[in-house]
Amino acid sequence: MTRLVINGGNKMDGEIDVQGSKNAVLPILAATILCDGKNIIYNCPKLRDVDMTIEVLKNLGCIVKRNADCLEVDSSNISGYTIPDELMRQMRSSIIFLGAIIARFGKAEVSMPGGCEIGNRPIDLHLKSLRKLGVEITESHGFMHCKREKNISDNIHLDFPSVGATENIMLAACLTEGITIIENAAREPEIVDLERFLNRMGAKIKGAGSDTIVIEGVHKLYGVEHRIIPDRIVAATYLSCALSSGGTVSLKNADGGHMGAMINVLKDMGAKIYEDRNKIVVLSPKQLKSVGTIKTMPYPGFPTDIQSPFMALTTQAVGSSVFVENIFENRFRHIEELTRMGADIKADGRVAVVIGKSRLTGAKVTAPDLRGGAALVVAALAADGETEIENVKYIDRGYEAIEKVLSLCGVKIKRKE
Ligand code: UD1
Repeated sequence: MTRLVINGGNKMDGEIDVQGSKNAVLPILAATILCDGKNIIYNCPKLRDVDMTIEVLKNLGCIVKRNADCLEVDSSNISGYTIPDELMRQMRSSIIFLGAIIARFGKAEVSMPGGCEIGNRPIDLHLKSLRKLGVEITESHGFMHCKREKNISDNIHLDFPSVGATENIMLAACLTEGITIIENAAREPEIVDLERFLNRMGAKIKGAGSDTIVIEGVHKLYGVEHRIIPDRIVAATYLSCALSSGGTVSLKNADGGHMGAMINVLKDMGAKIYEDRNKIVVLSPKQLKSVGTIKTMPYPGFPTDIQSPFMALTTQAVGSSVFVENIFENRFRHIEELTRMGADIKADGRVAVVIGKSRLTGAKVTAPDLRGGAALVVAALAADGETEIENVKYIDRGYEAIEKVLSLCGVKIKRKE
């Protein structure tokens, strides 16, 4: 089993080139099937989730070529409209293909996504919205059979600003007759990137980034070139790594404009952070301070995806910090592992209290999920001695070559097979 072995106690010092956003590239790759030609997508990170998405595209009949961070997707000969069980099980976010496949074929067959490591993750909002766009959905033998009976548009009010449901509606609606309006839409930067990509292809979408998105259906979309936005969660994770190690790091190709809630928390903890164009520099204070209460919220609130890395960081702050997880019910599984390393954290339901500063010691720990794994890396950088992290496959879902990035900044880290 692959492990990351980290020796803590070295101050990070160096520059990190921030990878493209995983959560932006996945829906954009799904959107490539909406045209008959070739799309060229730059700044695609090399991640397990991207590889799985490429598998889904190939399974549908697309030709996909990778050259460094550039993916060329040719969907001229696409023929399939099914996502098989093994692909759906490996990556639940393949559900994002549903809207795109329906838009292209008027029908789709997708295996039911199961639960996943951070909770139940229902798709009721996706299905309710697609039904409003004239799609009939039946379930049998573990598959959802979808057929667009009427090519209609509608006003869709989301009960919760779900990122995936907002993206699925945008994909399903951009080739319909008429105007679709999404109210209480998710406002994440990744949605803005999807809008930009689709509009480049010829779609007529307005309002992404606000809570109302207006999609005017068009008849045809065309292949284009597009560059994926930087990954704001990865950028914030590396800022946490730098602070946990007591070091200084400069991020290039980062977008601080997408990171307001996270940067504010780090500044409240005493970090010195300077932003200039696509660059963010972080300097560690002599001593980190606790943060009061952090509540995860939809964008522009504090992201659930950075809750666990920041929790690991607050173990090194003096005082108590409280985390309230409002988005996913099972996103505290890193706490048990952090406790093994000496952290003082008490959790009850969706609330966790961290008492700092703890002296962490290296231990054998297991990444419970993607961001929980990143939290263990953050903790390992502050710990005395060697930390061995198992289940690295989770970390590889979202962080490109994390051991190379960190070792270039002076961290003693090795991947062991
Ligand atoms: C996306 C991100 C994920 C991030 C999350 C929240 C991708 C690939 N993943 O996930 O990294 O943590 O946004 O920022 O972009 N919900 C329902 N019914 C639905 C859909 C969602 O109840 O039909 C609930 C979920 O259970 C969860 C909340 O809504 O409690 C947020 O989920 P959502 O915004 O949809 O997250 P994802 O798109 O799955």
